[in-house]
Amino acid sequence: MSARPRVLSGVQPTGALHLGNWLGAIRNWVSLQDDHDTFFCVVDLHAITVPHDPALLAENTRRTAALYLASGIDPERSSVFVQSQVTAHSELTWLLNCVTPLNWLERMIQFKEKARKQGENVSVGLLDYPVLMAADILLYDADLVPVGEDQKQHLELARDIAQQRINARFAPEDRPLLKVPEPLILAEGARVMSLQDGRSKMSKSDPNEGSRLNLLDPPELITRKIKRAKTDPVLGLEFGNPERPEADNLLGLYALLSGVGREVAARECAPMGWGQFKPLLAEAAVEALRPLQERYAAILAEPGYLDQVLRSGRERASAVAEASLERVRAAMGFLPSR
Ligand code: AMP
Ligand code: TRP
Repeated sequence: MSARPRVLSGVQPTGALHLGNWLGAIRNWVSLQDDHDTFFCVVDLHAITVPHDPALLAENTRRTAALYLASGIDPERSSVFVQSQVTAHSELTWLLNCVTPLNWLERMIQFKEKARKQGENVSVGLLDYPVLMAADILLYDADLVPVGEDQKQHLELARDIAQQRINARFAPEDRPLLKVPEPLILAEGARVMSLQDGRSKMSKSDPNEGSRLNLLDPPELITRKIKRAKTDPVLGLEFGNPERPEADNLLGLYALLSGVGREVAARECAPMGWGQFKPLLAEAAVEALRPLQERYAAILAEPGYLDQVLRSGRERASAVAEASLERVRAAMGFLPSR
């Protein structure tokens, strides 16, 4: 058994991953590999909580996994796996469902937002999404869960389920059944905003393609999207002016993508007009994404490589997850599964 803190995180294989997914989530996973025991899954069961196209799910799942590797997730040090291939996720979800109060789920902000968008077509799965996410985390006794700011409420729910609904009810006080996880939200990159509206989050579901930079966008497209990004009539880039959310967002992106940091970026760009700043930002974005795009192409070009990574990740993940599931089953009074 390793004494290193355990980390688990995941991204849904819906649509192309964008800069928000990278800066807010995946990029932060990479450095955690050095001194943590890391598990990264592609959460394909979450992807069917809204209507989905069966013809695309498997391919999107593989592409998302390939992007993890291209971003610097090292399959020697991390278990990279597909959620639906470790069946303990679905099984623990049911057990947790039966102890989770309905009103805890009804008040989730993301559910309310997504339900509004779905209109008549809201599935039970969409409501249950945070319980599945709790199962993802609790199966691995994760200490830390690196996510973007928008997932904080779901993390709190996972903590409440572990503490109040499982440990308090089914375990002796000195021997908790499930580890209570902590969110890991890094301030920089935690909220990347839309290129078309500095007040709304960059999101896969925004119908306007121009609102986001996808990780696999070719250089010309990146440059074009940045050229068309929303600006304001003020000269000079700055952080923290509530009247200028676009300036704050794009300057923040420049600081992260160029690697110069916020202080230097703020000084360098303070006197610049938008026409001078945008090409600079475009170049930083193209250069930051180039190595990732090259690795992605190499990974998919090597026959069998990705499947082998996912097979071995699944084995390592299953071993941990099955043991946790068995522990919860036993505590809840079920017959042993074998
Ligand atoms: P999703 O695209 O909802 O599957 O999110 C996958 C991960 O990316 C989660 O950890 C989110 O918190 C993070 N994320 C998504 N959009 C953004 C954004 N605009 N800024 C920062 N992080 C984000
Ligand atoms: N709900 C998360 C999102 O939209 C994805 C997710 C599912 C997740 N299960 C997880 C993230 C477990 C961290 C840990 O981004």
